[in-house]
Amino acid sequence: MARVFITRRLPGDAVDRLAAAGHEVDVWREPSPPPAEALREHTAQADALLCMLTDPIDSDLLEAAPRLRAIANYAVGSDNIDVDAARARRIAVGVTPGVLTDATADIAFALLLAIARRLPEGEAAVRNGEWTTWEPDWLLGRDVHGATLGIVGRGRIGDAVARRAEGFGMTVVHHSRSSGIPLDKLLEEADFVSLHVPLTPETRHLIDAAALARMQPTAYLVNTARGGVVDQDALAAALHDGTIAGAALDVTDPEPLPPDDPLLAAPNLIVLPHLGSATHDTRRAMAELAVDNLLAALDGKPMPNPAS
Ligand code: DGY
Repeated sequence: MARVFITRRLPGDAVDRLAAAGHEVDVWREPSPPPAEALREHTAQADALLCMLTDPIDSDLLEAAPRLRAIANYAVGSDNIDVDAARARRIAVGVTPGVLTDATADIAFALLLAIARRLPEGEAAVRNGEWTTWEPDWLLGRDVHGATLGIVGRGRIGDAVARRAEGFGMTVVHHSRSSGIPLDKLLEEADFVSLHVPLTPETRHLIDAAALARMQPTAYLVNTARGGVVDQDALAAALHDGTIAGAALDVTDPEPLPPDDPLLAAPNLIVLPHLGSATHDTRRAMAELAVDNLLAALDGKPMPNPAS
């Protein structure tokens, strides 16, 4: 029998499979994530950890958890975990790929449409009484059909966004480590740039002031990857001075973004609270994959979905 610490309550009943397999399950039931000290205390007594992207799993925490042999992240990304430090301690690390691909691609496309066609402004105008009559030149946006979408990072989610774009009559170009066009060329050509790279030391602030300056003044940035991929100060400046036309973000750095963060004062900006995988079915499926990873590791087998 192993002791498993789960840092939040999860949708669905996947966690029941841990108890059914004879493991002792310790679930953090508070409405907010465990504070650092609680995360450390509970993890220190655990053989396995099921954690969220909001839980920083660093080498100090691992050092304080001598029994730990498996970590299942409830996310496809693993940038909240020091994976090298875990591997050095022979702790298996797993993620939840595949099941959130379409939900995340849907959010990317929803953001693209919303920023191009000014949906939040239109909705607000209806509610606040600003809409007094139909106007020929009011709230004009940009056509999505016929526009060029530049996809940065062509993994599963980048591919799924490309499929949606083709259905909308867009031209798709992409940049990835192994294929596509150079990033500079993509930034110069695209009417919409959509980010789908993991956050790594190489991709931190990939979209900085120089990258934004390469984009067209009529172009839009969409980020559903990780907030750290974009230099937010540079983005705020680019929105204020019209270097680009707008940005639509599902992810920020930090999360949550404080309501007084200077980024929120920038014009032509949509920010969502990291909703990429937030559908009932997707979050249930993520729980199943995370539990599959833990059950395999606790059984001495390779995780079906290891972190890369
Ligand atoms: C992930 O799984 O990494 C997503 O960002 C969660 O929505």
